[in-house]
Amino acid sequence: MARTLLGIESSCDDTAAALVRGREVLSSVVAGQGGLHAAYGGVVPEIAARAHAETLDTVVAEALRTAGLRLAEVDGIAVTAGPGLIGGVLAGVMTAKALAAATGKPLIGVNHLAGHALTPRLTDDLAYPYLMLLVSGGHCQFLIVRGAEDFTRLGGTIDDAPGEAFDKVARLLGLAQPGGPSVEAAAEAGDPARFALPRPLLDRPGCDLSFSGLKTAVLRERDRLVAAQGGLWRQDRADLCASFQAAVRDVLVAKTRRALDRYAEESPAAPACAVAGGVAANRSLRAALAASCAEAGVQFVAPPLALCTDNAAMIAYAGQELMEAGHRSGLDLGARPRWPL
Ligand code: KG4
Ligand code: ZN
Repeated sequence: MARTLLGIESSCDDTAAALVRGREVLSSVVAGQGGLHAAYGGVVPEIAARAHAETLDTVVAEALRTAGLRLAEVDGIAVTAGPGLIGGVLAGVMTAKALAAATGKPLIGVNHLAGHALTPRLTDDLAYPYLMLLVSGGHCQFLIVRGAEDFTRLGGTIDDAPGEAFDKVARLLGLAQPGGPSVEAAAEAGDPARFALPRPLLDRPGCDLSFSGLKTAVLRERDRLVAAQGGLWRQDRADLCASFQAAVRDVLVAKTRRALDRYAEESPAAPACAVAGGVAANRSLRAALAASCAEAGVQFVAPPLALCTDNAAMIAYAGQELMEAGHRSGLDLGARPRWPL
């Protein structure tokens, strides 16, 4: 019988708890804090930490209630122990420790990035090793995932994460936050070929990426248009969004092909490439990655969006794999703001 784990996640601006048994998600509760930070143009760590501390108990109770379980019935408590905003991570770790101490249940500290990277095994029949592209507002990296604790990082962004670039471009063009969905919506009516935006680092070998210059190029085009015509027309916005989205997509697809070549050197029996992170919601990117993987003869796995973005089911699932591997954390488990895989 598979173990049932409670997962807790509070490393950024979502307070989340979930119950997972084997590959079955019994409940997954995510309480966002978007509204609290809206006036500041970004997540304010102190406000986030306070909100996590106030919300965690309720969110855990809600996850148990939805799953129809009592805490006494779970087999372990998994919690994000980093990387992330330290105040939020601490709030989650302290909650998990208190629950573990009170019940005597095993405690398992989980790396947030490992949670994202293992999600495709929760949703799909996926054997190790597989290639993982993690693209969110905070992360961007290629990983070969060989096991719950065995990752090889092939490359990643050297500046902004792609979601961050989408958010900044939306801000530059006066579109709503989060920027990804609003840029994607505006891009639908746009011409991706109108602006010749750069494809950063494509000329360099390896799997590293860069998005900050792309955002600056959009800023330059915007300022040029404003100077020339006194403002931005709706079509200008649409064309800028479409050109920007196409540039991000092209770079991600090209670098994924390189990462696939590196991964192929391992001769995986059932080659697969998975994506996770909020940017994986982008339809143009998903379609291009799917086509590219099909061409390379590699299975493409994109978990449902609710499991791609920050959630606690991924932490519970990763905790389960770690527990099976004999992993346990002590009540001295600490919070790590930085924790590379
Ligand atoms: O994974 P996530 O929910 O949170 C973290 O960053 O950890 O990702 C959020 C990011 C935001 O930057 C948002 O703009 C981006 O994902 N995003 C998108 C889309 N939907 C969300 N980016 C591009 N296209 C989208 N449709
Ligand atoms: Zn995340």
